[in-house]
Amino acid sequence: MYVQEGDLKYLSGFGSEFSSEDPRCPNSLPKGQNNPQKCPYNLYSEQLSGTAFTAPRESNRRSWLYRIRPSVLHVPFKPLTSVNSDKILANFATLPAEPNQMRWFPFEAPKPDDGLDFVSGLKTVCGAGDVITRNGVGIYVYGCNLSMENSAFYSADGDFLIVPELGTLKITTEFGKMVVSPGEICVIQQGMRFAVCVDGPTRGYALEVFGTHFVLPVLGPIGANGLANPRDFLHPTACYDDKVGEYKIVAKFQGKLFSAVQNHCPFDVVAWHGNYTPYKYNLTSFMTINTVSFDHCDPSIFTVLTAPSVKPGVAIADFVIFPPRWSVAEHTFRPPYYHRNCMSEFMGLIKGSYEAKEEGFRPGGATLHQIMTPHGPDAQCFEGASNANLSPVRVADGTMAFMFESSFNLAVLPWALETANRDLKYHECWAGLKSHFNEQEQ
Ligand code: FE2
Repeated sequence: MYVQEGDLKYLSGFGSEFSSEDPRCPNSLPKGQNNPQKCPYNLYSEQLSGTAFTAPRESNRRSWLYRIRPSVLHVPFKPLTSVNSDKILANFATLPAEPNQMRWFPFEAPKPDDGLDFVSGLKTVCGAGDVITRNGVGIYVYGCNLSMENSAFYSADGDFLIVPELGTLKITTEFGKMVVSPGEICVIQQGMRFAVCVDGPTRGYALEVFGTHFVLPVLGPIGANGLANPRDFLHPTACYDDKVGEYKIVAKFQGKLFSAVQNHCPFDVVAWHGNYTPYKYNLTSFMTINTVSFDHCDPSIFTVLTAPSVKPGVAIADFVIFPPRWSVAEHTFRPPYYHRNCMSEFMGLIKGSYEAKEEGFRPGGATLHQIMTPHGPDAQCFEGASNANLSPVRVADGTMAFMFESSFNLAVLPWALETANRDLKYHECWAGLKSHFNEQEQ
C-alpha cells in the first residue's frame, strides 16, 4: 500500500531534522545512549551522507537508516546495457555545439510492446559539466509503461528532480513511499534507492544536478512567506519490506549504468532520522508573486527550488514554474519579454498551452534556448498582446509550464537532435515579426 498525501509528514524546513518509524515496530529508533550496543529489533544502522562530513551545520545533510540488512550485502556491480543505456550521458564535452532555438513536439509515450520501465525509459536530452569532478547538470525525459519489479535505482552522480507529465508515479524509496502525479514534483537525492511503479503509458521530465542539492531560494525583501513554502514539502514515512529473493540494484555511476544482484529487498528500512530525505511538492501550493503596477519581474520570481553554484546568486540549475495567476500590469507588454540570456533555458509543459507560444509547444514536448540565443513570444502573441485591453486578466489557467534554467552551457545529445519529434521549423514562429517603426510616432 502506498502512503497517501495526508499520511505524509511535513518537511517543515530544509536543514531540519526529521524521523520516522514504521508503525509495525514502535520505538525502533534508538533514543540517546539508553540502548545497548545493538539497535532496537536487532537492526543494522547505516548512515547515508548527502554532504561532506565536515560541511557547515546549516548545509550538512545526512540520515541514519535502521534496516534489516545493510545495503553492502550484494554481489559486485557489472555494466548494464539496455535499450536506451547509450542515451544516458554525463560526458558532454565532445558533443557537437548547437546554438539554434530548439523545440520538440511531445516525446513519444511508450507503446504496449515497448516494455520500458523508469530506468530503461530514461534518456538524457542535454547537459553540461562533469560527473567526475561533480559539477554540472543533466536534463532527461522518461517514457515507461512497466513497473520496476524486484529492482531499485540510484544515482551516485546527483539529485533527481522528477516532473511527471503523463501518468502517476508510485515511488518506493528507502525512506518510504510517495505517490507523485502530474502537477506534483519530487526530489530523490544522490544515492537514495528507489523503484517506480506505473499504471500504463507514463511520461515526464527530470533534472539532475551534480555536486549540490536543491534548496528554497532566498526570499530577501519578499519576507518570510511566499513562493514555495517549506511546510508544503512532504517526505515519506518509514515502511519496510522484509522480502527475500533476487533483487537488481541499478546504479548510475560516472554517467553509466551498472547493476548488482542481492538476495533481499532494498527497501528494508524500519526507521530513519536525519535531514536527507526524498520529498514531493504539489505545484498548486506555490504562492505566486509578480508586479502589481507595471513592468516585468524577471522569471526568477517563479523559482520553486534552486541548486546553487559556488558563485553567489548563480544556480547550477533552477526549477521555475509559470502557474495560473492574475496579470494586472499597466502600461506594459505583459507576455514574457524578448531576451538573450547568459543562462540556458529548457522548458517543458505539464498541461495546457503556454501563453507566449499557443501553438507548437505541447504537453510532453520541450524547448531549449541556449546561452545568448534570442527568443521570446511568437508573432501572433506579440500582435495580440500589443493591442490588448489592459484590464486584469487571468493567465495560464489550466496550464503548467516549467523551466530548468542553468548557468551551464548545455550540449544536446545526438538522438535528441535527430529525433523525429524535433520541430525543425520552430524558428518560423518568429518569422512574422515585422517592423512597426514609425519615425513620426512617439
Ligand atoms: Fe527565456
